[in-house]
Amino acid sequence: MGAARRATATQAFARLSALYNQHRESERHRERDSEQRPGHHSEQARQSEHDQQSGQGRQSGQGRQARQSGRGRQARQSGHDPQGRQAGQSGHDPQGRQRTLRTPTGIYRIEDTFASGDLADLYATDTDALLKIPRDPADSDLMQTEADALRRLRTDGDPRFRAYAPKLLETFTHEDREHRRRTINVIKHQRGMRPLNETETLSDSIWIWRKLLVALGWAHRAGVVHGAILEPHILIHPEHRGLVLIDWCYSGHRPKAIVKAREIAYPPEVLTDRIATEATDIYMATGLMVRLLNDDMPARLRRFAAGCMYQAPRMRPQDAWALLAELDEIIGI
Ligand SMILES: Nc1ncnc2c1ncn2[C@@H]1O[C@H](COP(=O)(O)OP(=O)(O)O)[C@@H](O)[C@H]1O
Ligand SMILES: [Mg+2]
Repeated sequence: MGAARRATATQAFARLSALYNQHRESERHRERDSEQRPGHHSEQARQSEHDQQSGQGRQSGQGRQARQSGRGRQARQSGHDPQGRQAGQSGHDPQGRQRTLRTPTGIYRIEDTFASGDLADLYATDTDALLKIPRDPADSDLMQTEADALRRLRTDGDPRFRAYAPKLLETFTHEDREHRRRTINVIKHQRGMRPLNETETLSDSIWIWRKLLVALGWAHRAGVVHGAILEPHILIHPEHRGLVLIDWCYSGHRPKAIVKAREIAYPPEVLTDRIATEATDIYMATGLMVRLLNDDMPARLRRFAAGCMYQAPRMRPQDAWALLAELDEIIGI
């Protein structure tokens, strides 16, 4: 290529880049304007598609029947998207831009879909906050249940054990374009922790049982029953031996819903009478530990577990703190 032609090509390329940058800049402005219009959040979910999908695998509550929440589909397949993008796209649009969600007390830059639970999709942000957004607006009551439980743990629980539940940063009602209202919980992201169902097999996991009983002892003393002690709700940090109990949507003595996909893990009082007590959490925590330890349980520990899993809740231990003392005796601590 001669020098003159090379110069022309360079100029043409420079012109093209300038045009492209101009276009990108005007797109950015347009978007910022629409986000800043009062009462107009950047969340503009395409709800009709979402509503069709969100009914899958979940049976809505009728009358006194406990609702059953279906196992959430993969985050990227779920329809609700706080950024108004088409379902199935990632947190960044093709130009790599981020979107924001304004709330009564903060502005969150939404980075990506982080996880998908049974009820909600969780979005990572540029801060330590995760936005937990129910796919179905009708599940907002369960988000409120969670917010109430987390608040109660903070106000009535012994502050020394606060680290056993994530911090609720805020909770608010969001109205989308179609005027559907959702309760959104903003929860502290427990970085570096993974749910038990996604954790590799541990050589030693008895500490999880101990910490679980601490978490339950703490919550029960504050008057909160968790109601869904299941693998995806136990975040752990294997090296630091940290444990955080998440998803308090099912808490309370009269649970409004159960995790349908894990019905088998529930004791009879929840399935038949829709009642949950401290003994319910003890039954579910024990069941989880039996699944986790599998064949790795000496006879004494097996007997201990069996005593925590009687069908009748009144036959089971009621006090997680006392149970921890018993467990410590068995394992020789
Ligand atoms: N505070 C948190 N920090 C880190 N991961 C979390 C946190 N809360 C939830 N998760 C992840 O998101 C998943 C779904 O959250 P969950 O609260 O169970 O939602 P749902 O109520 O929809 O079931 C969890 O299994 C976990 O992997
Ligand atoms: Mg869950």
